[in-house]
Amino acid sequence: MNNKSIGVFDSGLGGLTAVKQIMQELPNENIIYFGDTGRVPYGTRSRDTILKYTRGDIRFLRTFDVKVIVIACGTASSAALPMIKDEFDVPIVGVIDAAVYAAVRATKNKKIGVIGTSGTIKSGEYEKQINEYDSGMQVFSKACPMFVPLVENGYFDAEVTRLIVEEYLEGIRAEGVDTLILGCTHYPLLEKVISEYMGDGVTLINSGAEVAKYLKKKLDDELAHSDKIDKCQYRYYVSDDISSFEELGSIFLEREINGQVNKIDIEKY
Ligand code: DGL
Repeated sequence: MNNKSIGVFDSGLGGLTAVKQIMQELPNENIIYFGDTGRVPYGTRSRDTILKYTRGDIRFLRTFDVKVIVIACGTASSAALPMIKDEFDVPIVGVIDAAVYAAVRATKNKKIGVIGTSGTIKSGEYEKQINEYDSGMQVFSKACPMFVPLVENGYFDAEVTRLIVEEYLEGIRAEGVDTLILGCTHYPLLEKVISEYMGDGVTLINSGAEVAKYLKKKLDDELAHSDKIDKCQYRYYVSDDISSFEELGSIFLEREINGQVNKIDIEKY
């Protein structure tokens, strides 16, 4: 038994798609979430900046004595985690390993598409890890930088979203992939439109859902679960305006979070 909380962070709201899955998969765990809303997006930044932000985010969550930290951000998981994973004395879990594991099992024709932010695609981390499983896999990657602002502004199922989905995914669809990794935690909010465009024959891999399953296994095998408690504590921290996070965050999580969000100065960490 281990009653410490699970720490989760993302550059903004996107990581809440992973939190929603963690709440379902692990209903007895307390969760502390940090959304770096003052510095979002990470996906267009240099690797040095992503490293600096990621280290600060981890240092902030460390102040809570958490049992594990989940990087619910595709960009920080791919462009920073491989370099910093041994710097901290707390287990850190990213979204890449779990999504790759699910994708290599899902594909039948060994053609996998990967979409993410520019930082994620530039890192080449998905291709690297997929090819470590099976060098015969073909990987087709595409950076989709407009998806994050669409999601952050609530354009989940709009005409403009359909047009941009077509613009970005036309090439990947034409390659005949049968599996598509949504390599950014914002993208599950666009799942409906992406799925309609890609067609029924393409399995979408939600990195947030996969990391939740991976985390459950990690608690089973190594870190231990919390005691069964009546009501879990969920706390949310942001580095910018609280009210917009509360409003959209409640939609992302499909639960009310008004009054549970605090603002911090992340530059101190
Ligand atoms: N949620 C972040 C990710 O998974 C994307 C947002 C950003 O660019 O910061 O990469």
